[in-house]
Amino acid sequence: MFYYLIRKLLFLIDPEKAHTLTLKYFNSKKIQFIRNFFIKSIPLKKTKCMGLTFNNKIGLAAGMDKNGDYIDSLSKIGFGFIEVGTVTPLPQYGNPKPRIFRIPSIEGIINKMGFNNFGIDYLVNNIKKSKFKGIIGVNIGKNKNTKIEDAIKDYLICIEKVYFYASYIAINISSPNTINLRKLQYGTLFKNLLRDIKKKQGEMYSKYSKYVPIAIKISPDLSKKELIDISNQLIHYKIDGVIATNTTLDYSLIPETKNNIQEGGLSGLPLQKKSNDVISILYKNLKRKIPIIGVGGINSINAAREKIVCGASLIQIYSGLIYHGPNFVRKIIKNL
Ligand SMILES: Cc1cc2nc3c(=O)[nH]c(=O)nc-3n(C[C@H](O)[C@H](O)[C@H](O)COP(=O)(O)O)c2cc1C
Repeated sequence: MFYYLIRKLLFLIDPEKAHTLTLKYFNSKKIQFIRNFFIKSIPLKKTKCMGLTFNNKIGLAAGMDKNGDYIDSLSKIGFGFIEVGTVTPLPQYGNPKPRIFRIPSIEGIINKMGFNNFGIDYLVNNIKKSKFKGIIGVNIGKNKNTKIEDAIKDYLICIEKVYFYASYIAINISSPNTINLRKLQYGTLFKNLLRDIKKKQGEMYSKYSKYVPIAIKISPDLSKKELIDISNQLIHYKIDGVIATNTTLDYSLIPETKNNIQEGGLSGLPLQKKSNDVISILYKNLKRKIPIIGVGGINSINAAREKIVCGASLIQIYSGLIYHGPNFVRKIIKNL
């Protein structure tokens, strides 16, 4: 109830400003006791996935804490894991503002952020400083100015820098806001990427004697045939996990009267069914060999359950947190 009142005020201001303001407030020392009180009411529901032990199945999806500035305070919401990023080798501004738009009537969000972040070194430093003992996933991408043919280099740079500090690494090849990025999901580009990151993982494992699982984050806008191809390659290259899905470019999911935004990826409730369909196809074709992290449109306990029924081993939330607040996460953890 309290959050819905605050939401009314937050929704009066620009979404990106509201985002920064909320995170900064939530991070402030003044409310430390509230955060600590909140986390005590969250039950432990340990679960294993990708060889890691999670405190519960519910994680924060990538994009909310791009630079790892808020790991400790966000962890107090109760998340079983926090995925920071997307981060790129070099810092970059991202697309011009405004770049986040709400569609409250359908609990949707459209964003065209374009990987705004302070770079991998800044993020690594923040992980080093963090006191959070749970699972931290690091979601990595390529810089805007890196040609798509050279993109693999960017992923390898990030893996090398973050390997020792991450619990798992997520390879983002599905954001619609970086030109050509999604091309990495197809054909030779995809195979070469999987081959090279697997090789790098092996080298890092030898160096640190620590196995850090790697998951690939895919788009919801893939056909059934493309999803089957992707599943086969993920199995072939022994990838540790798949995150399904990123935001969609399918604007037919927005009622015409609400659609005055021309570009960006759509998330939230309108994405729910599409991402569930992707998870079901993956589950059938991965034959339990590779776990699925389900994300897209979780806005209720039932929606969270449905992701698990479709085949997800873990789930993540972004838009649901904006629309329903931190207590929503606790409710899911308790009831799932
Ligand atoms: C404002 C915003 C920024 C996002 N940034 C990223 C990002 O940097 N990397 C990424 O992999 N996904 C990003 N996402 C996608 C989310 O991680 C998630 O896959 C998607 O929003 C679907 O989940 P949801 O319906 O619960 O929001 C972003 C989403 C939003 C709304």
